[in-house]
Amino acid sequence: MSQESLQLHVLKTLDTQGEIADTQDFTLEDGAVVDQLVLLGALNSLLSKEMVEYKSLDTEVWYLSEEGKEIAETGSHEVTVFNAIPEGEEGIAIAELQSKLGNVAKIGQGKAFKNKWIKKNGANLVRSVEKVEDQTKDDLLVIKQTGTHSNAEVLKELKRRKLCDKQKVTTYSVKKGAKFALTIQKQATELTYEMMQSGEWRNQSFKKYNFDAVGISPPGGHLHPLLKVREEFRQIFFEMGFSEMPTNKFVESSFWNFDALFQPQQHPARDMHDTFFLKDPATTDSFPQELLKKVKDIHTNGGHGSIGYGYDWKEEEAQKLLLRTHTTAVSSNMLYHLANQPEFKPAKYFSIDRVFRNETVDATHLAEFHQVEGVVADKNLTLGDLIGFLEEFFKKLGVKNIRFKPAFNPYTEPSMEIFSYHEGLGKWVEIGNSGMFRPEMLLPLGLDPDVRVIAWGLSLERPTMIKYDIDNIRELLGHKVDLTMIKNNPVCRLDKKMGRELDGEDELSEAVPNPIH
Ligand SMILES: *[C@@H]1O[C@H](CO)[C@@H](O)[C@H](O)[C@H]1NC(C)=O
Ligand SMILES: *[C@@H]1O[C@H](CO)[C@@H](O)[C@H](O)[C@H]1NC(C)=O
Ligand SMILES: *[C@@H]1O[C@H](CO)[C@@H](O)[C@H](O)[C@H]1NC(C)=O
Repeated sequence: MSQESLQLHVLKTLDTQGEIADTQDFTLEDGAVVDQLVLLGALNSLLSKEMVEYKSLDTEVWYLSEEGKEIAETGSHEVTVFNAIPEGEEGIAIAELQSKLGNVAKIGQGKAFKNKWIKKNGANLVRSVEKVEDQTKDDLLVIKQTGTHSNAEVLKELKRRKLCDKQKVTTYSVKKGAKFALTIQKQATELTYEMMQSGEWRNQSFKKYNFDAVGISPPGGHLHPLLKVREEFRQIFFEMGFSEMPTNKFVESSFWNFDALFQPQQHPARDMHDTFFLKDPATTDSFPQELLKKVKDIHTNGGHGSIGYGYDWKEEEAQKLLLRTHTTAVSSNMLYHLANQPEFKPAKYFSIDRVFRNETVDATHLAEFHQVEGVVADKNLTLGDLIGFLEEFFKKLGVKNIRFKPAFNPYTEPSMEIFSYHEGLGKWVEIGNSGMFRPEMLLPLGLDPDVRVIAWGLSLERPTMIKYDIDNIRELLGHKVDLTMIKNNPVCRLDKKMGRELDGEDELSEAVPNPIH
């Protein structure tokens, strides 16, 4: 039956009977019982139009258990036992009764003995009364029909025997409402221009707003987990007084990406197997000519106490456009601008942005990832300052126990890999890379010889994958990403616990390429 015809049936019943005292007894024309919840829907709809009023009636209704239903149908165990014993002195052997009735024999016997209906005669059972009444069956039938029993003791006893139990049932008492009618007028859900023009709105009944309705969740954007973790990293840098570098370009010249960093032109990182070069346009010559000369000079001839690389530096190589392989391309540019300020001021820069490498894509590698980079420039900074910054930075991430291992990077000297002790794995795992920029890089940029620059880098993907329990990087980034994951993943809070997680997970320790290329 449709909601509308059910509503009409309610109205018709009210019209003929005046009221429905208890919907417990409410039936459809064909006598079918209506589910009270379905009925409630109809009543609420009619109530909103003020066509009916109703009150809830809470009653306790007794109902039969499965066993209770069986007994109401076939009789109680004790009566079954009694009936199985033939009249006369002989009776029946206990074993035979057992095999005949099974479990029922056991339960029925006790009760029949208690009622003094049967007695033992040697190994046999015999009747001790002529006939018995099946009170249990009768009581259960009463409960089945009326939902209760006049004798509370009986209910208690039958419940104890798990033959019946009670439940709360809500039914309704229904009266006509102020706008009772036998037809249901369609309610308008909105006021239209036409209604106002024709004056029809005066006669129109409007549907009330339901302020309790659950809202539709907005279809708007959701932040990707990488963006959430990036925001946490940004806040840490801001707390430490860093300012963000403008990394809003993916294409760089080889000059800023490699040459300005004193990375020789034969370095394997500058091969197309490692780096994506652009085809069109393939080159640029827009870099400071004066700096270009200095960079060429230091590569070829050295200077400032360095012997350089002693090879034939080619401008064409520096002109090649590429997808930046590290955000340090931007850092070198920033340091050049810093060097060109009239007066040197210490600087703390950071960036978190995308970099590209020609990697074979697998579960833990993509051809692109996000590099988190911190750079500090000040006079007479030492390796101790770098260690101090790193300890502070990782402490804010929740990583307390860190160690350093000497390493080689093309443009930092000394260089240190950063390790953290992972309790779960019981070993030290690499969490980042760091170093002091070489004078061969800094002096051509025009920085004062006293100025030292320290830097460190790590990837954004690894902590994100650990934080959000993602073990395949392709589920985090790229065309296979499940948008539901982005919609449902929680807010990121890096806390002390996160720190322990961050330094962990064996298979993730090799998850992303070294941020310092
Ligand atoms: C509104 O109802 C009145 C009286 O029932 C009727 O005379 C009038 O034509 C109706 N107006 C419109 C716009 O339907
Ligand atoms: C990436 O490297 C592979 C070899 O490792 C090479 O075949 C391919 O051309 C490179 N891709 C680009 C776009 O340079
Ligand atoms: C840096 O060190 C040099 C050489 O030791 C010294 O002359 C200079 O005053 C120092 N500068 C600062 C700012 O401490």
